[in-house]
Amino acid sequence: MDLQGLNNKFLDADPKEILEYFFKIYGSEIALSSSFGVEDQVLTHMLVSIDKNANIFTLDTGRLHPQTYSVMDATNLKYGIKVNVFFPNTKRVEGLYKAQGINGFYQSIENRKECCFIRKIEPLQRALSDVSVWITGLRASQSVTREELNVVEYDEVNKVIKVNPLLHWSESEVWNFIKKNKVPYNSLHDEGYPSIGCAPCTRAVEAGEDVRSGRWWWENPEHKECGLHLKTIPNYTI
Ligand code: ADX
Ligand code: SF4
Repeated sequence: MDLQGLNNKFLDADPKEILEYFFKIYGSEIALSSSFGVEDQVLTHMLVSIDKNANIFTLDTGRLHPQTYSVMDATNLKYGIKVNVFFPNTKRVEGLYKAQGINGFYQSIENRKECCFIRKIEPLQRALSDVSVWITGLRASQSVTREELNVVEYDEVNKVIKVNPLLHWSESEVWNFIKKNKVPYNSLHDEGYPSIGCAPCTRAVEAGEDVRSGRWWWENPEHKECGLHLKTIPNYTI
């Protein structure tokens, strides 16, 4: 079936049905990327119930909150799994430090993008190198830049089919699932953090504020993507 056909088929589909569909066809060639945010926790719960050995991976940038490591641990323990971890390349992180210091991302967008490239995007490329289907926790209502997404897409950058099973779920659907199924979640969500990335680049938001306004809060909204979900290849050489 072509992309359009799949997107019509999955318009009102239950996210677990979408996962089952791809799992049946691609088996061990599918992988879920998890930042341990609440959406990824829903998908982890669903995927583990389909196959305990499913490939779930995280990009550990080295700058995560302690609370993120706690939920990582709680998730591994609850489901009896070990989420795969991809770390940044040591030499590149050392070069980054020499070039811009330890918190250089506050100084310019270029510095910030370089840091995101080294700590997230290059490890993502490695994580996806032998994967055919990449599952993400993206939701349309998270930001204007995500409203145009489809449940099934082809990612030209990483040359994989990209599937966003929760695209049409609301925030309350996500939380109802978490509570009903007693899924472990990051305690920062209870402290005003709807969207959680690296510690120095994420802060709490006020009630009613945009859910991603606490990410890279010092930058203009049009820059607020780390590049994991961009449709062109960022090109850094550090
Ligand atoms: S980001 O582009 O701003 O960082 P966001 O935090 O909203 O993305 O997360 C969207 C999706 O990107 C998550 O559901 C997850 O699939 C993936 N993702 C984001 N950060 C990571 C990470 N550190 N490790 C693995 N996957 C991640
Ligand atoms: Fe670096 Fe911040 Fe990007 Fe994390 S979010 S990789 S600390 S710039």
